[in-house]
Amino acid sequence: MAAGGTTRKCVALVTGGGSGIGRAAAVRFAELGYTCAVADRDLPSARQTVDLLKTPGLAVQVDVGNSASVQAMIQTTVEHFGQLDCAFNNAGIEGTARAKIADYPEDQFDSVINVNLKGVWLCMKYEIAQMLKQERIVSDPKKWAGKPDLCRFQGQRGSIVNTSSTAGLGLMPEFAPYCATKWAIIGLTKTVAAEYAKEGIRVNAVCPATTDTPMRDRFEAQWPDWQAKTDASYPAGRVATPEEVAEAVTWLCSDACPFATGEYLKIAGGR
Ligand SMILES: NC(=O)c1ccc[n+]([C@@H]2O[C@H](COP(=O)([O-])OP(=O)(O)OC[C@H]3O[C@@H](n4cnc5c(N)ncnc54)[C@H](O)[C@@H]3O)[C@@H](O)[C@H]2O)c1
Repeated sequence: MAAGGTTRKCVALVTGGGSGIGRAAAVRFAELGYTCAVADRDLPSARQTVDLLKTPGLAVQVDVGNSASVQAMIQTTVEHFGQLDCAFNNAGIEGTARAKIADYPEDQFDSVINVNLKGVWLCMKYEIAQMLKQERIVSDPKKWAGKPDLCRFQGQRGSIVNTSSTAGLGLMPEFAPYCATKWAIIGLTKTVAAEYAKEGIRVNAVCPATTDTPMRDRFEAQWPDWQAKTDASYPAGRVATPEEVAEAVTWLCSDACPFATGEYLKIAGGR
């Protein structure tokens, strides 16, 4: 829902908003006029992001893998801003292990699953519960005059984007748990989108390829042989910027694509 095209101000929530793709998305949401709650495990980094925003923001501490913490994040957001229109469920970790499955440590499997998969599931569970309490937004009739009436007459309650990865469309040897969570996010996205399409809640995913963030820096530092191939392996000759991913996220959240739900958008420089 574009802030300019609706009957009320839009509120966006970004998890993993203290760094990388999440920070760039929060900045872009604010540029577009959204009010933004920036949630991260690392509260100081969330506060740094809020300092970059053009609209009033709110920093919230959250562990997305913890149910009580996720519920508190949404409650705090709604207490401050009155509603929740868009959510970008983006917090994720790569894990600290790199190994084939026979040697992959079980505690790292649990950790990656907890943040990347259960975290997205928990966030959607409580975001949607909040969105269902909200009245439907009727989009700007002038914008949609003569267009299919999905948006104009049914209205929308909210829009969610989840961060998958190109790893969720292919292989990532020696990072099987990470790869599995990113495939799972696409399954969750498609299923939940179908569950709530009639309720006016859209759910989509983005699948970025390697993106120039602190996560990429960690890969390079820990496993230079794995990372070294990436720039040259893209037809574009480089990896993505977080701003390029953020642009796709805010577009998917916006009123520009009211009939897009259950989709995943690959952002991979032609690969
Ligand atoms: N960078 C890439 O190459 C790339 C490519 C494809 C997908 N992704 C995905 O994009 C998302 C963002 O990654 P990034 O590259 O910006 O990484 P990043 O490490 O720069 O940022 C991730 C943020 O998530 C936060 N976080 C981690 N665990 C959390 C938890 N349990 N609760 C709340 N916050 C938590 C971190 O504190 C950090 O601020 C991740 O889901 C990642 O898997 C990244």
